[in-house]
Amino acid sequence: FLVDKANYRHFMAKEIHEQPEVVGHTLARYVDMASERVLLPKLPFDFKDIQRISIVACGTASYAGYVAKYWFERLGRVPVEIDVASEFRYREAPLRKGDLAIFISQSGETADTLAALRYAKAAGAYTLSVINVPTSTIARESETVLQTLAGPEIGVASTKAFTCQLMVLAALAVAAGKARGELSDADEAKLVHGLIEIPRLMAQALTIEPQIEKLAREISKSKDVLYLGRGTSYPLALEGALKLKEISYIHAEGYAAGELKHGPIALIDENMPVVVIAPHDRVFEKTVSNMQEVAARGGNIILMTDAKGAAEATIESLVTIILPDMAATFTPMVYAIPVQLLAYHTAVVMGTDVDQPRNLAKSVTVE
Ligand code: AGP
Repeated sequence: FLVDKANYRHFMAKEIHEQPEVVGHTLARYVDMASERVLLPKLPFDFKDIQRISIVACGTASYAGYVAKYWFERLGRVPVEIDVASEFRYREAPLRKGDLAIFISQSGETADTLAALRYAKAAGAYTLSVINVPTSTIARESETVLQTLAGPEIGVASTKAFTCQLMVLAALAVAAGKARGELSDADEAKLVHGLIEIPRLMAQALTIEPQIEKLAREISKSKDVLYLGRGTSYPLALEGALKLKEISYIHAEGYAAGELKHGPIALIDENMPVVVIAPHDRVFEKTVSNMQEVAARGGNIILMTDAKGAAEATIESLVTIILPDMAATFTPMVYAIPVQLLAYHTAVVMGTDVDQPRNLAKSVTVE
């Protein structure tokens, strides 16, 4: 069907703004709002028999998988391996019959992810895919498909598909925790309640756009940008760096905040902005000490946090972007918004072709 930009300048802007709605649709498919329970189609396996999960994807979808690793391990106490498909398919990962392999793809046509799916099938693993295009090859060849209801994503830089993938994976991780006896009925209700809040919180996060637009003018003067995060904010730091590189062509790197002193701290000077993604969660204090290390070396910090985090992180020369207070587990879906907006507005300032960045294809169907 016909997809247009509505009143937006780019598809990417439209897709960023659609997120509260499409993440809400995806939520409604996988949870029962009234009873606050996860609602999944019948699965061909029981999570309590799963010894190990392998998650395989490329690019942004792999970062959704990386966040999900934290969720499955924390909520379900099940070990998870995460791999980019181009490595997984050739390293002969020793999958066993009865293992669960999860594939994540917006298009469902990514060549490496498809090859990885075929490999896992041949090894006798259960295959479950989180896919936006239900008629795609990966969807057709997977044993179980959990569709993301993001609608058509036109911008080459993935935005709404990512947050919808996170919503599906969050529901699946709660289901895993429940089936494995790690979560009680009350835990499930509390977590699902947190998920139900997400679309509203995402809408609230979108209201910080004017502040981000201003900040983007500063970022556009930089040659390099560093993104830091801990816990589930670490994969989001990787995603932030990828988004900025893709559409603004500014070099960016994402790092686990704790890795800073193992190398990248050597890069810090007054010319390199450091974006720190740090909701006030159980690793917040640790990230604050990493910020102090950056500040002591003259680095310019852009802190994405909540009101509590902003009050506690008393560091000078800090730009603080304040996001809504929320349950700590699912922050990546909400913090994705400022991360995407920062890349988008920086690219607009740079005057690049935001929806069709150079050298990139929406779906990589060749190796
Ligand atoms: C995201 O902004 C990228 N353009 C890219 O990393 C993408 O996520 C990757 O190619 C995977 O695509 P898929 O989800 O269609 O499999």
